Amino acid sequence: MQSIDFYRKEFISYLGNKTIDREPQNLYAPISYILGLGGKRLRPVLTLVATEVFGKDYNKALDAALAIEIFHNFSLVHDDIMDDAPLRRGKATVHEKWDVNTGILSGDAMLITAYQLFENYPSDIFKDLAKLFSETALKVCEGQQYDIDFESRDDVTLSEYLTMIEYKTAVLIAAALKMGGIVAGADQSDQNEIYRFGLNLGIAFQLQDDYLDAFGDPETFGKQVGGDIIENKKTYLYLNVLLHGTAQQKKELLDLFSIQPKDPSAKIATIKDIFKESGSAQRTQSAIFDYSNRAFAILDKLKISADNKSLLRSFGESLMVRKV
Ligand code: IPE
Ligand code: IPE
Ligand code: MG
Ligand code: MG
Ligand code: MG
Repeated sequence: MQSIDFYRKEFISYLGNKTIDREPQNLYAPISYILGLGGKRLRPVLTLVATEVFGKDYNKALDAALAIEIFHNFSLVHDDIMDDAPLRRGKATVHEKWDVNTGILSGDAMLITAYQLFENYPSDIFKDLAKLFSETALKVCEGQQYDIDFESRDDVTLSEYLTMIEYKTAVLIAAALKMGGIVAGADQSDQNEIYRFGLNLGIAFQLQDDYLDAFGDPETFGKQVGGDIIENKKTYLYLNVLLHGTAQQKKELLDLFSIQPKDPSAKIATIKDIFKESGSAQRTQSAIFDYSNRAFAILDKLKISADNKSLLRSFGESLMVRKV
């Protein structure tokens, strides 16, 4: 087993050799653009690592890893349209650089390209990968729809929120790991357990994403800080003010969420203060820690080597303290 960095580099070099340079330019250039902007490459790395953890060569999983990274980037292109986001990985989003129609169609082509990559596998593996992928992709759509529906609701519960982030984010991280298990031919119970590890890690990951959206450093975060506040997102930060804040904090938050000022900077600053003073920021940090620990408890029970456990654990820990 190699280091996480090794698998990331191997993946990036595989991706580099596969970039599509084809006509029409306006369909394919945005695809190369978004895939070339980088990002953490978390999901493909998990697929490669899981393949090795279950005893097969990561090279076998490169196409599955590429499929999951292309799907992820497709979901970001459409997500940025839905969230009206100007910035992604420190650069203009696809719909800002081109336009919304380009973002829709290039996104569609990415989704199809992702599926095509499974054709490179023998039929039994193809079937399992495609089945998992379809279930996962549909859940992501459901999660994304809940996320949008919640923007205009003021009665979202914590449990609804947790389901929403499980669907929009955690299932893909879980599937990335399980795909490694499928490619490696791991037995069903191992596949299910690594999936559960990924699901809990993925929930922690989205909680951290919500936290960074408010408290990230604009210099390094790569996305518009405060974007969730501007879009009325019902995040863990927001919901915990309503659950645990003072009457005054709740009222101020609800009032601020009902207005859409032209310059949102004062609104964002006040809401961040409320997140901190109500204890909501701290509660979010604790929840990130809790879900990560649930993931690590599942990891501990996996029938894999101690070295592999500690590799996956330190990868999980690095996600908890990430700044991007
Ligand atoms: C962003 O995912 C979307 C979420 C599910 C929070 P990442 O934070 O993995 O994005 P990149 O690929 O590293 O840019
Ligand atoms: C993204 O959630 C989930 C998917 C893209 C499916 P967010 O909307 O929070 O992701 P970011 O913050 O824009 O990366
Ligand atoms: Mg978004
Ligand atoms: Mg979104
Ligand atoms: Mg976010």
